[in-house]
Amino acid sequence: MASLFEPYDLAGHRLTNRIVMAPMTRSRARENDVPNEMGALYYRQRACAGLIISEGTPISREGQGYLFNPGIYGPDQIEGWKKTTRAVHERGGLIFAQTWHVGRVSHTSIQLNGQAPVSSTAKQGGMAFGYNDEGRPDMLAASTPRALETHEVKRVVGDFAQAAVNARMAGFDGVEVHGANGYLFEQFLNAELNDRSDEYGGSRENRCRLLLEAIDASIEKIGAHRVGVRISPYGQLFDMPAYDDTEATYLHLAAELNKRHLAYVHIMDQGAQGQEAMPREFLRKFRDAYEGTLLFAGNLDKQEAQKLVDEGTIDLPVFGRPFTSNPDLVERMKNDWPLTPFDPDTFYGGDARGYVDFPTYQEEQERRARFGEG
Ligand SMILES: Cc1cc2nc3c(=O)[nH]c(=O)nc-3n(C[C@H](O)[C@H](O)[C@H](O)COP(=O)(O)O)c2cc1C
Repeated sequence: MASLFEPYDLAGHRLTNRIVMAPMTRSRARENDVPNEMGALYYRQRACAGLIISEGTPISREGQGYLFNPGIYGPDQIEGWKKTTRAVHERGGLIFAQTWHVGRVSHTSIQLNGQAPVSSTAKQGGMAFGYNDEGRPDMLAASTPRALETHEVKRVVGDFAQAAVNARMAGFDGVEVHGANGYLFEQFLNAELNDRSDEYGGSRENRCRLLLEAIDASIEKIGAHRVGVRISPYGQLFDMPAYDDTEATYLHLAAELNKRHLAYVHIMDQGAQGQEAMPREFLRKFRDAYEGTLLFAGNLDKQEAQKLVDEGTIDLPVFGRPFTSNPDLVERMKNDWPLTPFDPDTFYGGDARGYVDFPTYQEEQERRARFGEG
């Protein structure tokens, strides 16, 4: 049986262990959405993970739905990310960038020239983090989007390809195309929401087309072994309606992804985000349909992760919230040391507090000893 703490060959990348850190938006790039030193320190602290997937990084201003997300489209952003990738590599870690377009989950106050966000449709849904009427940062209902014209869809595909090139320039080991959580790609995949009549709407093949084109364009630029994709089948985050063709849509996607020999496919179960959980039978079906490395995130602990790996349901378990408050999560799990509970109040925005000030277990012990507590 494979231990979580043994190395894993991910399409030629040597992971020192099977523990993956989930992509997590932390909204701390307050200076022009440029990745900063504090972000580099945050990732450096967590480089014990076999693989880190960065927070969602917008591929364009159009693709941004929240203030203070570090992007991957401007030269300053590419320079900024170099601090992070260098820091992670110095500790022997690996890091992929999660390339992200939010689609309709945005607000006119953060779009260029106050334009409407774009989507597969003109139907409104979701919450964005933009400026309110008083000009203050605030959670707001997303603005009504406009449906992308067919030729514009090709331009978005090009933006993903450029983001892959930029990610490599910034020193990332690869990209994870963000096809999950109600953002642009799900707005196309979803049979109920997507009301297009061009080649990107209607049939299963057409609804999957945009995601596959963005993946293919990324592969063409940086190679399949450097491209992964995240999906969240059955997810309803940001007002995604349930639809009958869900299982068939994602199994079709699995068959298509088999042809592409990606670094990995990453499934996220939104049950951990207060949504309805993904049926476990579906995970098994996807496993049977998909031949490559499969990552899975959603409420895992060490025992459940080991069980899913042992039974062959997944290859690499992904941990999100536990990594926020346990920079040395791998060591803690390996030694069965207690975990520090995470703090949802400091997930998004703010400063160093709740971000880079969580000690490792050993630092905690030293502090206790020094102050005579332990
Ligand atoms: C603060 C926070 C930010 C997140 N940001 C992202 C993100 O940028 N991209 C993404 O795909 N998922 C995001 N997620 C979801 C996580 O990647 C992960 O799937 C989720 O937290 C479930 O894993 P967990 O139960 O181990 O925390 C975020 C979750 C949290 C808690």
